[in-house]
Amino acid sequence: MKGKYSRICAGVLLLTAAGLSLTGCGGGQWETGERLQQAGGEQEAQMPPETDGTGKDGDDLIVVGLSQLGSESDWRIANTESYRSTLTAENGYYLLFENGQQKQENQIKALRNFILQGVDYIVVAPIVETGWDSVLQDARDAGIPVILADRMVSVEDDDLYTCYVGGNFVKESEDAGRWLADYLRQQGREEEEINIVTLQGTLGASAELGRTEGFGNVLKEHPNWHMLEIKSGDFTQAKGQEVMEYFLETYEDIDVVISQNDNMAFGAIDAIRAAGKTCGPDGEIIIISFDAVSAAFDCMLQGTINADFECNPLHGPLVDQIIKDLEAGKSVDKIQYVEETYFDTAMDLEKIKEGRMY
Ligand code: AHR
Repeated sequence: MKGKYSRICAGVLLLTAAGLSLTGCGGGQWETGERLQQAGGEQEAQMPPETDGTGKDGDDLIVVGLSQLGSESDWRIANTESYRSTLTAENGYYLLFENGQQKQENQIKALRNFILQGVDYIVVAPIVETGWDSVLQDARDAGIPVILADRMVSVEDDDLYTCYVGGNFVKESEDAGRWLADYLRQQGREEEEINIVTLQGTLGASAELGRTEGFGNVLKEHPNWHMLEIKSGDFTQAKGQEVMEYFLETYEDIDVVISQNDNMAFGAIDAIRAAGKTCGPDGEIIIISFDAVSAAFDCMLQGTINADFECNPLHGPLVDQIIKDLEAGKSVDKIQYVEETYFDTAMDLEKIKEGRMY
């Protein structure tokens, strides 16, 4: 499938000459290949030089169109970095990167442009699960394999995508629920009435749907656990703080906060402190979060988050392997979950943090 690089160059030049925005999303989001780091997001009409110092010319490179959904969290930054450092010219790739700015319409436009340009592969982190049938059908008609990364889609026909690589969100959250049951037992609180609130991620996103479902499964097993309210903080720190402020104003007695990602947990911690309350292992409110990014380790070390359930963002090497397998004519597993674990304040977090990449 290699060798489309020249046609991509011509396509980009034509689109640019015609004065068309490649993304239609306000410009500035479209970044190309090796230039993307240097260009700072500026639209580039010219592609990189004929050779890149690796001995490969452009036509040897595999062209990947990557539609990232946004840059809403520390996790997302680490995820993007994983692609940027793996899908390099040295490794045989030419990467077209689009940031959807948390809008599905931007992502769909990006995919249509990738199809128009005739990329070899499309990698997409879909912001929500629904609404992808038509554009995925277009990719299929164009013969472009689509790899879903991080989040899933809900489509009529699963053949519209080649495979999914990402976290098992239901499992992450069931594990979190079981951890809570264990923790309360250790504290002799298993019979106590426990009031819980949940900061949900982006509604309709796989990470939100799976984590809501997973914790809900465990909640059903504990009649003394009461979910006071579930409200979306859109996976961002600012909204996480806003929603936590609302929870604190609305409910007098909150025992547990389930934050469906770390950035919302950071916002929640700020809101809890501002309300004159405390959280963490020695505080009034137990905080359970997801992602386990570096700053969340700092929170656990400082004693403000109790436990963090990992969502591994290092998808670059896995996507690289999938593409190389497909190039070699091998079949790939349809669903590929990344390895994930959890961390809590009973562990040697200083040591664990040293060996982590995000
Ligand atoms: O889809 C993965 C989730 O999206 C991560 O938990 C979160 O931080 C991100 O915004």
